[in-house]
Amino acid sequence: MTGSISTVFQARAGDYVYRDASAVIRQFRPHDPVYLFCADRLAQRAGQFLRGFPGTVSYAVKANPEARVLRTLVAAGISHFDVASLPEIRRVLNIHPRARLHFNNPVKAVEAIAEAYRQHGVRSFALDEFSELEKIQSVTSNDHGVLYTVRFKLAHDGAAYDFGSKFGAEPDKAVALLQAVAAGGARIALTFHPGSQCTDPAVYGRYLEAAADIVARAGVTPELINIGGGFPEYYLDTALPPLEQYFQAIARTSQRCFAGNIPLMCEPGRGMVAAAVSLLARVIHVRDCGRSLFLNDGVYGGMLEQSVVDLRFPAQVWREGRPLPPGSASYQVFGPTCDPIDRLLRPAALPDHMQVGDHVEFGLLGAYGSATATSFNGFQPGTYLNVLRGTDFG
Ligand SMILES: Cc1ncc(COP(=O)(O)O)c(C=O)c1O
Repeated sequence: MTGSISTVFQARAGDYVYRDASAVIRQFRPHDPVYLFCADRLAQRAGQFLRGFPGTVSYAVKANPEARVLRTLVAAGISHFDVASLPEIRRVLNIHPRARLHFNNPVKAVEAIAEAYRQHGVRSFALDEFSELEKIQSVTSNDHGVLYTVRFKLAHDGAAYDFGSKFGAEPDKAVALLQAVAAGGARIALTFHPGSQCTDPAVYGRYLEAAADIVARAGVTPELINIGGGFPEYYLDTALPPLEQYFQAIARTSQRCFAGNIPLMCEPGRGMVAAAVSLLARVIHVRDCGRSLFLNDGVYGGMLEQSVVDLRFPAQVWREGRPLPPGSASYQVFGPTCDPIDRLLRPAALPDHMQVGDHVEFGLLGAYGSATATSFNGFQPGTYLNVLRGTDFG
């Protein structure tokens, strides 16, 4: 059967599990983009975090809020979630009514704080300035059960994204914020985010040392240090230490700075979910003597990141459901919309003689892939299917 995946699958896309990418292509020859989700891979990564991270693991829902992702994480033992909005809060509670939610978007509408606190039982909020502190206090009044997490920043270093350009108090201000929260009698935590795709474990050490300094100057003892996300994914051309080295570096510095007396939390998004999902796109047009490919998905679909950061995603080409050997021919890759920015930042290295109808499967698309997809120009985001075995991109 060929045709539109959305019309073919919507009714049963839920729990049906296909063997692998080849089985999906052979059975459906999908014309529309498809996300292939491998629950085993996600469960394994969750286990790696839960066993290896020296503290509580909280999942950053923004990376991928798909219900099947949340369900798999809950089944794997994750019960804390970093949420950025009311829809994320509702989504998580729908799946896990007793989930522990941390509303760690540092800037929130006061109405969102109020609904989170009053209707959804959220008792953990991040902030990086006094006006946000006042908003949270105005809603929660004197509730000493509320956890206020002060976010600070350092100069950008070692990550693909500079999160400090938008959020985080300078250390001096973080000291003052901690003191102000303590004066109100509420519970206190301190947090940072080294930036997504942090390629150097030592950056966490520097942040933890700065955290120790802030805590000492503030003269308060937070009940938690939340080290944010930033755990990297292993894209092509990235020579990175294994996750365990990140965990060890964090444990060592935390032991040195806090003598193990302040519990840690992390909130991985990318490092947790990226490898569990691939995106199966289809070649709809070839031009420029075969050197430019138009796919049925692009930067307005699941590949926004590939237009803003220089990450090389692994790819496998399928023809008639059979894998083609890897190739090194260089292609400009365009998405299907009328917009010229709908083009991948980097040319892709794919086999020679790509054809209309070939499927290109991009790996590591589980984080900030479907989560940021739009329906610009009427092109609908891809549909999710489950696979037993995710493609091995080597
Ligand atoms: C507060 C917070 N925590 C965690 C994350 C997840 O980061 P990453 O995907 O780098 O793990 C983000 C990402 O934006 C964030 O804003």
